[in-house]
Order: sequence, then structure tokens, then C-alpha cells
Amino acid sequence: MAHYLVTGGAGFIGSHLVERLLIRGDAVRVVDNLSTGKRANLEAATAAARAAGANATPEFLEGDIVDPEVARRAAEGIDYVLHQAAIPSVPRSVADPITSNRANVDATLSMLVAARDAGVKRLVFAGSSSVYGDSPVMPKHEDMPARPLSPYALQKLVGEQYLQMFTSLYGLETVSTRYFNVFGPRQDPSSPYSGVISLFIRALADGQTPTVHGDGEQTRDFTYVANTVDGVLKAAVAPNVAGQVVNVATNGRVSLNQLLATLQRLMGTAITPSYGAARAGDVRDSQADITKAATLLGYAPTVSFDEGLRRTVDWAVGA
Ligand code: UD1
Repeated sequence: MAHYLVTGGAGFIGSHLVERLLIRGDAVRVVDNLSTGKRANLEAATAAARAAGANATPEFLEGDIVDPEVARRAAEGIDYVLHQAAIPSVPRSVADPITSNRANVDATLSMLVAARDAGVKRLVFAGSSSVYGDSPVMPKHEDMPARPLSPYALQKLVGEQYLQMFTSLYGLETVSTRYFNVFGPRQDPSSPYSGVISLFIRALADGQTPTVHGDGEQTRDFTYVANTVDGVLKAAVAPNVAGQVVNVATNGRVSLNQLLATLQRLMGTAITPSYGAARAGDVRDSQADITKAATLLGYAPTVSFDEGLRRTVDWAVGA
């Protein structure tokens, strides 16, 4: 049994990591300031793990890891840190770059220092496909130069570079997993900054008109959360990967118009979306090359886009 710390464990992706770790029988501590995370996510993760036969509960530390003392307490006795705490969202970072920088950069540095001082075996960081920016080369390969178009993308890039520096400077093992548009149950649709799949499902379920920013032909490598969890857990323990940056995605590419058509079929709706202006800082196309994850981590996606959407819709409509 290993001891895992999940920062942001009350958030969407964090709570799925917690659930899987509990099911595996690992010891889990969560630190979360509940700025975007919710206790209900942790409760749902614990209940799901219970239903799968686990009987442990995560230890919960409420606090902000930007405070070095909170980060220090969180890292105590930990083998692996899965650093998921962040203020996600490109548009939110455009509207308020200082607040998102504090959560995405300052808190990452604070956690790295605490992990180093606690002697943890490895820290895995939630990176982002947004760092690739608008390069027309597809699929996106880790060796491509980063071209951040938003404060969020830049902050995630700085986080990765801090990790690599901590590996070379202090010998702390780190891996950055670059996520691509993760979706699934427990993704919160309640903010205008929420992920597009959660927003579209909510709109269709409520009989409202979904809003498409732009012409809907932009594409994304939408990744069902169980695949992301697989990649992160492999990154925590794979040999010879310290200092690496690895895409964790599906290598698929779906347009927003295709996404909407699939959702309408699954949900039995026929609502015409409204089309508005493209969003500032938006990337046109995004698709991951996942060869490196396969080679270094032994990763392969196991839940298809369609199956993931089905599970997400079932959760959202309470089926
Ligand atoms: C970006 C990053 C992703 C990161 C995420 C954090 C890229 C390619 N991806 O996702 O890695 O984890 O930020 O939040 O940069 N849209 C609509 N209608 C809506 C909402 C969104 O049309 O109501 C559109 C957006 O303009 C965008 C697409 O849907 O073109 C996806 O948006 P969103 O789900 O917010 O994610 P990204 O910004 O792509």
C-alpha cells in the first residue's frame, strides 16, 4: 500500500483519482481549498469506491497549498503526489490572470518545495494541451515548441518547467501529464467557464439552446476521465520517466458540431444551437500524439469517446 496525496482531490479529475486509488487499496490524502472543488465530489468518490468493495476513506485536509505550511502538512509521509489543484479554464485566466496564476503557478511551486522537503518518490503534475497553442501541426507531439495563447496555457507551461527544474536541480522525480479536454461524471456545468461537454449536456437536458463559440468546426481530443486517470497512475510509478512531459489523451479529433450531433442522438433531443463569436484565446484544433505515453508509460485509452459520452450523459440525467 502506497501513500498518495491528491491536491485538488475534491475537484472533477482529482476525485476520480481518489476513487481509483481507494479501490486499489492505496492510502489517500486530499488537500483542497474548495475554491472549485466540492465535498460532494469526495463523498461521491468514496461511495463509488465502497460500492466497488473498498472500505477506506480519504483523509481530507482543507486548505490552500499556496501556503507553505499547508503544503508541508499535506506532503508529510507521502510517497506520490498527484498535483491536480488548479483554477482551470482558459477564459477565466483571460478575465483574471492574477488569481489563476496564484493557483496554477505559485501553488505548484509551493507544492514542489514541500514534496522535495518531504522526500516524496515522485510528483505528477496536471499539464494541459493548451500549451501547444495554435500550431497547425497535428497531432501535437511533446517535442513541438510551446506557443501559449492564454495566461492559463502559460501558467501550465511554467508549472511543467518548474517540475523539470526541480528534477535537475534537486533530484525530485517529476512527470507532467498533458491533459486534453477531459470530460466525465462530476464535471461541474454550473459556471460559464465549465468544460463544453458538461455545458452542452446541461443545456440539452434542460431544453435550453447550447451556445457554440465560432462555427463549431473547431476540434478537440476529448478524453474520458477514466483514461486520464490511467495515464496519471501509470506516470506515478513508471520507471525512467523523471523530468518527462507526456500527452495523456486518445489521439481522436471531434468537432463541436459532431459532439452536439452525438449528444442529441444519445439524449433524444433536436435543439438547434446558437452560434456566436469565437472565444478570445481559443485554439482551433487539438489532437494528441500519444506514442510517448504508450512507449514510456504503457498507456492506451480504454474507454472510447462514444462510451464515455454515454456514461457522462447517464450520470448527468441521473439514469
Ligand atoms: C482548454 C485546453 C484544455 C484545458 C482546458 C481547461 C486547449 C486545446 N485545451 O480547453 O487542455 O484542460 O482549457 O479548462 O486549449 N465552447 C463553446 N460553447 C460553450 C463552451 C465552450 O462553443 O458553451 C467551445 C470553446 O470556445 C472551445 C471548445 O468549446 O472552442 C472547448 O472549450 P472548453 O471546454 O472550455 O475547453 P478548451 O478551452 O478547449
